Amino acid sequence: MSLLVAEGVTKKFAGITALDSVSLDVGEHELVGLIGPNGAGKTTFFNCLLGLLRPDAGTVTFAGSDLTRVPVHRRARLGIGRTFQRIELFVGMTPREHFVVAARARAGRGGLVADLLGRGRVTREEHDRAQEMLELLGLGPVADKKVEGLSLGIGRLVEVGRALMTEPRLLLLDEPSSGLDRAETAVLAETLRSVQRERGTAILLVEHDVDLVRSLVGRVFVLDFGVLIASGRTEDVFADAAVRRAYLGDLV
Ligand SMILES: Nc1ncnc2c1ncn2[C@@H]1O[C@H](COP(=O)(O)OP(=O)(O)O)[C@@H](O)[C@H]1O
Ligand SMILES: [Mg+2]
Repeated sequence: MSLLVAEGVTKKFAGITALDSVSLDVGEHELVGLIGPNGAGKTTFFNCLLGLLRPDAGTVTFAGSDLTRVPVHRRARLGIGRTFQRIELFVGMTPREHFVVAARARAGRGGLVADLLGRGRVTREEHDRAQEMLELLGLGPVADKKVEGLSLGIGRLVEVGRALMTEPRLLLLDEPSSGLDRAETAVLAETLRSVQRERGTAILLVEHDVDLVRSLVGRVFVLDFGVLIASGRTEDVFADAAVRRAYLGDLV
């Protein structure tokens, strides 16, 4: 059964068609890629899935429920986690503290301000869940260092971990490799692979970096100027002569 199904998603900005009837699906536990050059409409699509933008036409369903009228914050509760193209971490806080805050938010203990001020005792459960996440992501050695002193690659992993603390069934990642060097991108790929393997999390990877997508996902969708120009098994899509000539020639 498909976990996420987008059908005919269309979005226009002041006369420009950023998305023209785009359809895509992600199965339970599946790793799927959405690629395309800058300006192809990837982030617009991502935001339509999250409800941050309202499509002009089309539908998005998640686990069988129509999401069209579901507000953004409720989508997280339904089991959709996400990270954005731009890193958004709290200066002065460590990876461990980011995860504890996320565990607490999920448990409904709220009190973000209290957390930022260092108040509110960390429960055993919050501590254990944060520790598990640090280990899953290989962040043990930097667990108690402030994030502003860490590399961009580590920062990305912290963002992924924070999103995973809500135990999503689907994780949406918008260009997680942006700003990372090759070594950092390789670590990210390996980490996403182990997240999928150990937790069964389905992942939709929205990416410009063709190599990352190629090494990671079983199925891929190709967007160009708001139009889906190819989709299918990763090896078939990358082998497709027309796709290579028309579009991937300058990327592969
Ligand atoms: N809020 C907006 N207002 C007007 N145009 C936008 C807006 N967001 C995106 N666009 C346009 O939509 C197109 C797709 O952009 P985007 O989804 O950011 O592409 P990508 O993420 O693939 O680089 C671009 O032409 C962009 O200029
Ligand atoms: Mg983008």
